[in-house]
Amino acid sequence: MFLSVVLLWFCVGFIVLQLKSRRPKNFPPGPPVLPLLGNTLQLSLENPLKDFERLRKSYGDVYSIFIGPKPAVIINGVKAIKEAMVTKASDFAGRPQDLFVNDVTKSKGKAGVILADYGSSWREHRRFALMTLRNFGLGKNSMEDRIHKEIKYTISTLEKSIDKTMSPQVMFHNAASNIICQVLFARRYEYDNALIKVIVQCFTENSKIANGPWAMLYDSFPLIRYLPLPFMKAFKNAETVENLVNEFIREHKKTRVPGDPRDFVDCYLDELEKRGDDGSSFSEDRICLYALDLHFAGTDTTSNTLLTGFLYLMNYPHVQERCQREIDQVLEGKDRVSFEDRHNMPYVQAVIHEIQRVSNTVPLSVFHCTTKDTELMGYSIPKGTMIIENLTSVLNEEGQWKFPHEFNPENFLDDKGEFVKPEAFMPFSAGPRVCLGEGLARMELFLIMVTLLRKFKFIWPEDAGEPDFTPVYGVTLSPKPYRMKVQLRTPQ
Ligand code: HEM
Ligand SMILES: *[C@@H]1O[C@H](CO)[C@@H](O)[C@H](O)[C@H]1NC(C)=O
Repeated sequence: MFLSVVLLWFCVGFIVLQLKSRRPKNFPPGPPVLPLLGNTLQLSLENPLKDFERLRKSYGDVYSIFIGPKPAVIINGVKAIKEAMVTKASDFAGRPQDLFVNDVTKSKGKAGVILADYGSSWREHRRFALMTLRNFGLGKNSMEDRIHKEIKYTISTLEKSIDKTMSPQVMFHNAASNIICQVLFARRYEYDNALIKVIVQCFTENSKIANGPWAMLYDSFPLIRYLPLPFMKAFKNAETVENLVNEFIREHKKTRVPGDPRDFVDCYLDELEKRGDDGSSFSEDRICLYALDLHFAGTDTTSNTLLTGFLYLMNYPHVQERCQREIDQVLEGKDRVSFEDRHNMPYVQAVIHEIQRVSNTVPLSVFHCTTKDTELMGYSIPKGTMIIENLTSVLNEEGQWKFPHEFNPENFLDDKGEFVKPEAFMPFSAGPRVCLGEGLARMELFLIMVTLLRKFKFIWPEDAGEPDFTPVYGVTLSPKPYRMKVQLRTPQ
């Protein structure tokens, strides 16, 4: 009896030792790792951000944790992030391929662009998107026209609330969504369109699941992946959306005129024809996820930045007024603002950048992955290691900003009042994976903010109490829902 117990324990011990997730030699330090479980159960599954703060204090700017049996390296601060994303760009430009999000978007082999691994397929699709966005920016139906067209709807929504209070959440979400839809599908959706409602609902729900505890468990423990657990709902949602978009693409194919593209989808179909069987990665199966990728990447990010922006502008009325003075002066006599006008508006530029800095919309960027064995800040990191860059740590890093911990446009102004952009401004990340929509997002933020500030005054309602600037943690950070009071103003 005694002997069998000893033997049993010996076996258990042996198995545990074999299964123990170990840090490779010279790997970044981190908390002790449990066998199989890694650090998963030591982190709060609801909001791991607090735990990470503690870990950074103990282990430094480059540290590691284990998500189940898999190691991940977390990088903080401008110095380390620049070394990884810019100096050693290609070593750090991969994407992990075995996470919940990959499975939900069935990305293996037919990913769009966000989750595509580093390689020719990603490169071809990224280049195509950049080129198409650029081409749409030229010519008569330019990107600026599209954005201005959409702003008209935002204005009419606001006009219905003059001298009243309104919730801007849905309004900004729709504006951002419609601008992308114009580019992708050459149409916008009325605010209460049933199709877009279903898509948005599925997306919102999936974002919640992807960020929730069940997704983290899914990533940590492959064995539970086929069980009927709450994450299954995400797969259903993904299918619903895919069917809707595919239906739409079929319709598109019937009405297109080859060589005369109306939108992104037409451009992709043209490209497919042009390429024939040249062995490239373009394929009809990919249009759907590709379009969804761009829609997803461009909607919440932009609308949450706008929401944060107006929250601050209402609560820093002197900043709002100073923007309005500059806008009135530069736009005097013009009927609308153009993106070029930004060069004459250093203060507005500084405010918009400061809004992006404090919004910190995508705090941990999108996860990267090493593409080969490499080194960072003296540590060795093997190929295939998940890399999490902490953009928050840069956007409020001490020593990089005049006022790292307050909302202050001076962060982007020199002593002559000219606009300057410190190198720590990376809300879009940096390197080859830098946000593909950066140009579009900047144009949207500038045109929307300037147009609305010129026409309206935004006031924090008297009965709203103290503003709460602490963001809510989701896929992207967003302010807590709030209301705003809208007044018409006459440009001076
Ligand atoms: C204020 C708005 C936005 C912010 C803060 C933002 C931020 C980011 C960040 C941090 C990344 C990850 C970069 C990395 O992995 O290193 C990213 C990737 C991406 N963003 Fe944005 N983004 C915004 C708007 C947009 C818009 C409007 C589009 C629409 C076209 C877009 C499309 C993409 C795409 C396609 C990627 C993946 C790029 C790749 O993997 O190669 N984003 N964005
Ligand atoms: C990112 O940086 C911020 C600010 O330094 C810190 O509070 C947070 O815990 C960090 N997150 C991670 C994952 O290290």
